[in-house]
Amino acid sequence: MTIIGEVAAARAFCETARAGGGSVGLVPTMGALHAGHLSLLRRSVAENDVTVVSIFVNPLQFGAGEDLEAYPRGLSDDAALCAAEGAAAVFAPTVAEMYPAPPVTSLDFGGLSAVLEGARRPAYLSGVGVVVAKLFAVVGACRGYFGEKDWQQLAVVRRLAADLSLPVEVVGCPTVREADGLALSSRNAYLASAERAAAPVLYRALSTGVKRIEAGERQAPAVESAMAEVLAAEPRLGPVDYACVVDAATLERREPLVGELRLLVAAQLGGARLIDNLPATVPPP
Ligand code: PAF
Repeated sequence: MTIIGEVAAARAFCETARAGGGSVGLVPTMGALHAGHLSLLRRSVAENDVTVVSIFVNPLQFGAGEDLEAYPRGLSDDAALCAAEGAAAVFAPTVAEMYPAPPVTSLDFGGLSAVLEGARRPAYLSGVGVVVAKLFAVVGACRGYFGEKDWQQLAVVRRLAADLSLPVEVVGCPTVREADGLALSSRNAYLASAERAAAPVLYRALSTGVKRIEAGERQAPAVESAMAEVLAAEPRLGPVDYACVVDAATLERREPLVGELRLLVAAQLGGARLIDNLPATVPPP
């Protein structure tokens, strides 16, 4: 496995792979790899001739006061994991290599970026859009693998690829969870042990909401109250940013609930801001 630091070298590596008839899979990450990332990597290795893992803590997607400096970094451990899983290359550019000049381009995804994470973290989805567009431009035609854990990010990346006719197939992969339901995240490293014990409350709240829908509830506020009640019972949980159910593709509210839905939760727990989501489907009457 090769570690590439330059944009030109990454582009040449992927062009050579395609010239030989190979397909390229891209797994974009910010490093601090865990089993969730490895599930994306394994899927890409299974579905493509060549897999490139990008490791880049993208400053554009962090707002003032967020955890850009604290974000866990460890390139040599990450590269060893990628090699063990069969990646052909790690693309780990410096900030100066990715952004020789501070980018002035920003991206607005309309209603998709106005809500949920976008409403609370104004830099996040535009920053993700710019870096993912750039990674797709460097890597070229490929399949790109993204976790469902960041559901709104996945929705935005799908629209980015479709709206700009990028030569990319966006592949969403299921969230990987600990045995108690906590979704894997690099930010779980910020949880002290008592907070870690409390963290599965997000999954319990989402599961409660899904059960209410499965039991026939069709009003979003009733589902959302049921989720809020579960969250409120955990005293260690800090402010809850949202606990809601929306259309899975547009992220708009649906009244009554019908079609492919997504239940999403975000809350502060000690030093970590946690997000999670689950699907629910209501067939049309
Ligand atoms: O999900 C992430 O790790 C990041 O947001 C991504 C997609 C690698 C863009 O920096």
